[in-house]
Amino acid sequence: MKVTILKTAQEIGRTAGEMFVQTVLAKPDAVLGLATGATPLPTYDYMANACKEGRVSFKDVSTFNLDEYCDLPKSHKNSYFTFMTENLFSKIDVNSANVHFLDGNAPDAEAESRRYAAEIERAGGIDIQFLGIGRNGHIAFNEPSDKFTNDAFKVQLTESTIEANSMYFDDVPMPRFAMTMGVGSIMRAKKIVLVATGKSKAEAVFAMIKGDIDPHCPASILKAHPDCTVLLDEDAASLL
Ligand code: F6R
Repeated sequence: MKVTILKTAQEIGRTAGEMFVQTVLAKPDAVLGLATGATPLPTYDYMANACKEGRVSFKDVSTFNLDEYCDLPKSHKNSYFTFMTENLFSKIDVNSANVHFLDGNAPDAEAESRRYAAEIERAGGIDIQFLGIGRNGHIAFNEPSDKFTNDAFKVQLTESTIEANSMYFDDVPMPRFAMTMGVGSIMRAKKIVLVATGKSKAEAVFAMIKGDIDPHCPASILKAHPDCTVLLDEDAASLL
């Protein structure tokens, strides 16, 4: 795990964004694993600008998002599909046929998990996986638990996650369940970049980097990945 502490969220966005740009320049049909949330936004701005300036084209990439809420229409303003459309996909030249999401409304979660795993494999596997980290150490929606997961599954969100995200929901209650990629699916990515900013992430970052590999801090498994970069601001790194 390569840990870098940077001054601002913008610097983190530039650094992570440039990793994505370089991946796509080296392999125009790269497979990108993408995350939602507040922390990735400067990275997505950077990628959108690089595309607008003509420095990179995303027309041949495939994307796979980490997670999606259950019991929320795909078109709802708070779905992760809408989030990605507004914050990245509408600003780059990605082909919408190559954009992949877990279906949070699939009637059979296990079949949906198998479908997603097969699609990732058909695309050739994820070249670069983007991650944030939850205050409780979750990655994607792999919440702290007694064991690590493998492929995608339906998860009941913890109170900590609901508390951190319910401010975004003003018309319907925040969903209690989500479909998420598993830890195994994340670990199979060839390269991983995790970003964390702010004091609210300091404990989770400490447990991830200094603690044992333990499913009660799902992000701690990333220490076992051969090519994982962690980009932090000083607040997120303040307990290290
Ligand atoms: C989002 C996701 C989550 C977030 C995490 C941090 O797709 O999988 O694990 O990365 O909850 O979210 P922010 O960046 O909003 O603090």
